[in-house]
Amino acid sequence: MKTLFKSTLFFGLVLAFNVPALSRALDLNTQYARSIDLLMQNLFRVDVAPGAVIAAPSKQRPDYFYHWVRDAALVLEANMDLYQSGQLSGLQRQKMQKFFLDHVLFSQKTQQNALKVNGLGEPKFFVDGQVYNGPWGRPQNDGPALRASSLIRLLGIAIRENWPQLEELKRILYQAQLPAQSIIKADLEYVAKNWHEVNVDLWEEVYGFHFYTLMTQRKAMILGAQIAQAFGDPQAAQYYHQQYLRMNQELNRFWDGSRGYIYATLGYSGTVQKPAVAKNGSSIKVLNKSQLDAAVILGVLHTEINDESFSFADDRVISTFQKSADSFNAIYQINKNTTVAPAWGRYPEDTYDGYQTNSLGNPWVLCTAGAAEYLYRLAMTLRVRQSITLSQYNVEFFTKTARVPNAHIGQVLVRGTQEHREMLQNLMTEADRYLSRVLLHGNPDGSLSEQMNRQSGFMQGAPNLSWSHASVITAKRARDAANKYAELRIKRGVK
Ligand code: NOJ
Ligand code: NOJ
Repeated sequence: MKTLFKSTLFFGLVLAFNVPALSRALDLNTQYARSIDLLMQNLFRVDVAPGAVIAAPSKQRPDYFYHWVRDAALVLEANMDLYQSGQLSGLQRQKMQKFFLDHVLFSQKTQQNALKVNGLGEPKFFVDGQVYNGPWGRPQNDGPALRASSLIRLLGIAIRENWPQLEELKRILYQAQLPAQSIIKADLEYVAKNWHEVNVDLWEEVYGFHFYTLMTQRKAMILGAQIAQAFGDPQAAQYYHQQYLRMNQELNRFWDGSRGYIYATLGYSGTVQKPAVAKNGSSIKVLNKSQLDAAVILGVLHTEINDESFSFADDRVISTFQKSADSFNAIYQINKNTTVAPAWGRYPEDTYDGYQTNSLGNPWVLCTAGAAEYLYRLAMTLRVRQSITLSQYNVEFFTKTARVPNAHIGQVLVRGTQEHREMLQNLMTEADRYLSRVLLHGNPDGSLSEQMNRQSGFMQGAPNLSWSHASVITAKRARDAANKYAELRIKRGVK
């Protein structure tokens, strides 16, 4: 092989072009810093209302110059991770605080506008806060749930740090009063009353019941019960808690034990197939065949709280991770390069290429970074547990991804043993390999688009997608947290 490389210069060049050398990739710290910077650039622009979160700066091919409720909430979460990391410069911290306050006011405006038009499931707004009222897949009910959860977290930070604007923030964010006069309360009521209504999924394509959406709704109800209790609203707290219990039941329906993965969408309510077309007439796809979808892992990532069912170490989730990894690994040409982990797309049957549907789907930055983040956080979870038992459902994962030698059903990996330590180390390494996949295809200046071309790996679709940068930021935060936690345990002499 070596001689081939040397003797055939032409062949070498072709190879170098098709498979970008790893050495061209940015290192993780540089990419992280660039992602923080580029995300900030998306947030502070003279041509959008303060506090708006553009999905991406591009105004055509594709036009992503809008505020999406989902993207915005996930960006807010990433920004809170950053804010609490203690790693921001003084100036960045100041800017971030300003963004938080502006964002609360902007959310209030979009929420009030949505109420006047299509209701709180409205997914998309102009950058001045007006409802985008063209044909679109609506309602998308993950939006209000994600918004409520992220704003509850923000209010918690404001309370702990005793911000000067605290009283005003409380008034805007949570009051017990009904009909709701405050953002979080309105969202919580909407979630509690509408979670059993069919709606459009996070990919804005399918009408039905979605695992991702239900996970976000469940988290909102858990946090909602807590905030209601704290704000002298005990009846609401009880009501939200009841919904949470029902949602817990409902979530189990998404698991298919015979296929070994959690379905993304259930198209049936009772026995009646819901129409695969949105109310407003925009065309919505019929359910994809396999129902295997990165949205499931993202749903786990975006909602983890108190180690509830369907958290990181749940066998059903672990199994779904492995099935997703295998399926994406098999379909994208770029995954033939195995020096890094496989790039993940949204779902195998995807036909959206970043510009148009009815094409060929590609791997996505935020799905691949999401796979990395999942593994970091799973490693952290498993480090705390006394042991993990290999089962029918997770054994494949522990064989292929955690690379446990001779893994077999019934085997118990016990904390403190050599094989347990190695398993955790392998998870961290595999997570790094996922981030290396993103770094490999990211642009040399650190800009990240929505997708990576399935054949060439080059960035494709909306450039500098806010959510792409947010996903790298939260993955890096998860990596740091997992490493720090591991060191801490060694220092304290805990195995
Ligand atoms: C079609 C894509 O499949 C969907 O996910 C996207 O939200 C819309 N186009 C708008 O870009
Ligand atoms: C398409 C994605 O499918 C959707 O989840 C996202 O909200 C929009 N693009 C905007 O980024």
